[in-house]
Amino acid sequence: MIRPAELIERKRNGEELGADELAELILGYTRGEIPDYQLAAFCMAVYFKGLNAAETYALTDAMIRSGRTLDLGAALGRKVVDKHSTGGVGDKTTIAVGPIVAACGVPVGKMSGRGLGHTGGTLDKLESIPGFSVDLSVDAFVEQVRDVGLAIIGQTDDLVPADKQLYGLRDVTATVDIVPLIASSIMSKKIAGGAAAIVLDVKVGDGAFMKSLEDARVLAEAMLELGRHAGREVVCLLTDMDQPLGAAVGNALEIVEARATVCGEGPPDFTELVLDACARLLALADLGIDAAEGRRRAEAAVADGSALAVYERWIRAQGGDPDPGVLPRAAVVQELRAPVAGYVTWLGAIDVGHAALHLGAGRAAKGDEIDHAVGVVCRAKRGDRVAEGDVLAEIHARSDDEAETGVAEVLLAYAIGDVPPPECPILLDVVA
Ligand code: URA
Repeated sequence: MIRPAELIERKRNGEELGADELAELILGYTRGEIPDYQLAAFCMAVYFKGLNAAETYALTDAMIRSGRTLDLGAALGRKVVDKHSTGGVGDKTTIAVGPIVAACGVPVGKMSGRGLGHTGGTLDKLESIPGFSVDLSVDAFVEQVRDVGLAIIGQTDDLVPADKQLYGLRDVTATVDIVPLIASSIMSKKIAGGAAAIVLDVKVGDGAFMKSLEDARVLAEAMLELGRHAGREVVCLLTDMDQPLGAAVGNALEIVEARATVCGEGPPDFTELVLDACARLLALADLGIDAAEGRRRAEAAVADGSALAVYERWIRAQGGDPDPGVLPRAAVVQELRAPVAGYVTWLGAIDVGHAALHLGAGRAAKGDEIDHAVGVVCRAKRGDRVAEGDVLAEIHARSDDEAETGVAEVLLAYAIGDVPPPECPILLDVVA
């Protein structure tokens, strides 16, 4: 039997912990034998002293062993690929990537999460579609992936239960943004989910956990190492999250944008990221093609309408109505206009994320109700030239008062100057 207080002390003093010790700590916590306060102290010790590669793998392995694992590949008789984003503002990538990849003949079965704080979650976005259910049994999930080519559901309670508990604890103890803890949280879920190959989208910048490219590379390397250890192929895209992704931030608004992108009518930065992620997923699948051919096929599926057809079949299969006209709409839409002419030199993701959160699009605390209709649509993005009075953004709100507050908050997210900012592509780097 381990003594948790001793392990905390040894980690606090910078010592390396053994795999058995870490496993007992995590599994004891999941069984309710070790209290929250000791795990919170352990996480804080890790914040200051870190975990080396062996410890990070041992932690991940214990998290996986805390629950059941899936083998979607064996169930489908195919190599299964998966994608995951570390979370950002306006990130609806999965909702557009899923139908495009499925339309190219590669099945996608994905378990997604809910949003917390200024980052939105895929499940919350999907639940803005009237009738859409994210609660499918594992059997129904596998069946739908086989029939439709695509299913996206909430993570089942028995898959990596340790992460569910630990993430909730980290969220309220200032221990979320720690590389080995983020890496083990994400990779335990991906490995337990059974995908043979994984494309990870590591967000970098103002609205992301990783604020600098250097930190994002460290996280990418840690996740790659965990994937290698578990025999999975992993590719990490490092992508810009200084400004919101695409234009829409807010649940139903993001569904409209994801659907438009599946039809080839999405905003340029979001379209580029979606097509790049599709290309890499297709290259990792069992089609025997490279990323350039994957990109060509993804573009063709968008152009010929087959991606939209899969999107509609998928939404219907999960009980929803794919018509964007049925999505909830906010009572008030107010425009924010440019106070001066010039170039948009900055559009802060975190400020837009907070404005959307305050409008009701996100949760300040676990279990908060969200309003699917509200949010922000950024009509002008970094680098755009605007005249005085041009629309910078639309604020979708429940009332005039809330719209006024939203306008004031989003105005603070914009900086307008005389000189265009340096170009910044959406894809900053690839680590593989
Ligand atoms: N996303 C996760 O799933 N876990 C983390 O720790 C951070 C982002």
